[in-house]
Amino acid sequence: MARKGVILAAGLGTRLHPMTLAVNKQLIPVYDKPMIYYAIWVLIKAGVRDIMLVTSAVDKSSFERLLGDGSRFGIRMHYTIQHEPKGLVDAFVQTEDFIAGDPCVLILGDNIFYGSGFPAMLSKASAQTKGATVFGAIVPDPERFGVASFSEEGKVLTLEEKPAHPQSNCAVVGLYFFDGKVMQYARELRRQIPADREVSITDVNRVYMERGQLDLQVFPQGFAWLDSGTYDSLLEASNYVARVEREQDHMICCPEEAAYSAGFLALEKLREYGEADKNNNYGRYLTKLYHQFKK
Ligand code: DAU
Repeated sequence: MARKGVILAAGLGTRLHPMTLAVNKQLIPVYDKPMIYYAIWVLIKAGVRDIMLVTSAVDKSSFERLLGDGSRFGIRMHYTIQHEPKGLVDAFVQTEDFIAGDPCVLILGDNIFYGSGFPAMLSKASAQTKGATVFGAIVPDPERFGVASFSEEGKVLTLEEKPAHPQSNCAVVGLYFFDGKVMQYARELRRQIPADREVSITDVNRVYMERGQLDLQVFPQGFAWLDSGTYDSLLEASNYVARVEREQDHMICCPEEAAYSAGFLALEKLREYGEADKNNNYGRYLTKLYHQFKK
């Protein structure tokens, strides 16, 4: 059964106003590409070809203009609208018909991941057909995130959403692998939790934890997890990408490159895209890749 992907890109982006008054947060650039490209790169790396993007009514056409049917990356893009920003889980359950009981991976459109070993972590999570996998990053300010505490063997002991007094400094990042039961659990939670309280993604993960079916993979030291939700973190993310790309002379999180490596895209397409964009660095990079891979 192929794993499906969901990207959440609704929400008001109020922490980035006035930048996000007229443009969706996930469409603003992180150095040399739109923020949403980084999430698409992750999903392609995870082997996902069917992706549902959840966004607001006003932003849907902009995403469609940028990503179309996904064929540029050898994937299939689908779009749905969350009419009011009622939270992550509210947005996620709107994709229930699309998921149709298949395993899935959910990614928040403002999370950026980069580090060695990441593809192997994704493969491990993707290979798991029962239960859920979440990822942890050691941070100085865990109270801003979902927080996991765990035993020496790596068993998750507690999960809390933005706790005032975190039990650990391990933030649960915005990337979640779920089995085919997730929508059922989310709906049950909606019935159990009072209507005036939002069901958080941490509540959903806690269901898996209580069933003994939650895997936590903690990113190693030096791994970059960038949450580009504030002015400072957005600038840091752009600076990080620019620095790594200059140092390595290699574009990071390039969806076309991932798509070619995954076998989703023919080599000839890299040449074609490079030719069409030969007056900018993105296009020149694709041409360079074409010649590299052709050897
Ligand atoms: O970044 C990781 C954190 O993301 C996790 O540690 C938290 O457990 C999780 O709840 C989430 O917290 P945030 O406060 O960062 O979530 P935020 O409201 O910023 O939303 C994240 C993305 O989800 C954002 O890019 C837009 C999308 N979104 C958000 C809301 C509230 C929607 O699509 N619909 C919504 O209603």
